[in-house]
Amino acid sequence: MTVTIVGAQLGDEGKGGIVDLFGEPADVVARYQGGDNAGHTVVHEGVEYKLSLVPSGAVRGKIGVLGNGCVVNPRTLFDELDTLADRDLDPDVRVARRAHVIFPYHRVLDGIEEDVKSETDDEVGTTGRGIGPTYEDKAGRRGLRIGDLTDEDVLRRKLEYVVPQKRALAEDVYGVDVGEKFDIDALFEEYREYGTRLADEDMLVNAGDFLADRLDAGDNIIFEGAQGTLIDIDHGNYPYVTSSNPTAGGAATGTGLGPDVIGGGEIIGIVKAYLSRVGSGPMPTELAGVEGDTPGYEGNAGEREETLATEIREAGGEYGTVTGRPRRVGWLDMPILRHATRASGFSGLAVNHIDTLAGFDELKIGHSYTLDGEEVLTVPATTGEWARCEPNLRTFEGWDDADWEAVAADGYDALPENAQTYLDYISDELDTPIYAVGVGPGREQSVVRERPFE
Ligand code: IMP
Repeated sequence: MTVTIVGAQLGDEGKGGIVDLFGEPADVVARYQGGDNAGHTVVHEGVEYKLSLVPSGAVRGKIGVLGNGCVVNPRTLFDELDTLADRDLDPDVRVARRAHVIFPYHRVLDGIEEDVKSETDDEVGTTGRGIGPTYEDKAGRRGLRIGDLTDEDVLRRKLEYVVPQKRALAEDVYGVDVGEKFDIDALFEEYREYGTRLADEDMLVNAGDFLADRLDAGDNIIFEGAQGTLIDIDHGNYPYVTSSNPTAGGAATGTGLGPDVIGGGEIIGIVKAYLSRVGSGPMPTELAGVEGDTPGYEGNAGEREETLATEIREAGGEYGTVTGRPRRVGWLDMPILRHATRASGFSGLAVNHIDTLAGFDELKIGHSYTLDGEEVLTVPATTGEWARCEPNLRTFEGWDDADWEAVAADGYDALPENAQTYLDYISDELDTPIYAVGVGPGREQSVVRERPFE
């Protein structure tokens, strides 16, 4: 069977922990979109690993697959694999031949575009990993796929077509001098080596066939979404989005399996009990705190809010895994969750960070928005409208800190009563059951009500 893990908000909901929690019976963990913009921390036998490309489950002996919907920077991939090898770990990672390759020029162009946009405060706040420019080339039919790295003639021919275009763009349009990152011979030599290594180490797969064979053989597969629903290129707040589909539909197109396979399994929406965001864009329930990130939106400035935001940020460790940037923080936003539940068809939810919210007298949840005098229950289609939304906040009584491991051991009824009220409201509003509640960073610090593979 399959379980698909999808971020219900703006990324950083704690998807890796849930993959870990539910993933024990899984044989394969497959990513279906994104690239090395997705940071995750894995603790294995007491050692912490910071990974951005290798699927977290691969460190725990599962087969990791980077599906065709991913964009792969081979430098990052081999750096991560070599670092793991230094610690005597030899994860089995397969890469789709149809996945697209991130080249150094993509990163340069990502940076240039952000710089130019920042002159008018329009930057997206990307991770700078070249993700957008690589997906642009994919859609523009000038990208290189992983499979192209193993054919020298194709590799050279395609580089000879595309690199001069990129050089002209950087130099003639943006007036930026570029060096080796745009040198065809240097790129050819480096990337040919990657192709050889991928082939020699038997890492190349036709993802759809590979995964279908594993399913036929009775394997369990987890599809691990990166980022989150509101930064989905289609369903997110364009243009403050990543360039792929983290929503559940992406698990079909990004692996080569049919939507019936994805929908026939469980689709779990991962929710953080509050909201955080890196990068720009509206955030109607935002608490004041990190300045200047929200073009077109004034925020709810105020000293009390700033203190609250700082407390939640510190308690929740809300700093970007890839970039180290402090994350913006806000109250839980139900319109976001209704939108996410519809777009991905969640069969269950996991709500993380209930422990982070302990100790506050009261908490708020954005139940709906007021947009131009009307109440709306879900996220408007345009980012301009979303930026005009005022949240209608509901107040919930807070809960005290607790011995969370004991709570996890005793189950849902052992959660503080007010936390249960908060969680039951979320589940009722979304008409979706809660399978797990995160009450701490470790696997043991989770209240489990339902294990999707069982
Ligand atoms: P990109 O994916 O680097 O192109 O960045 C596009 C937008 O997605 C920016 O707002 C990033 O901050 C955001 N983003 C990308 N990856 C993540 C992630 O793993 N967590 C949260 N936000 C992300």
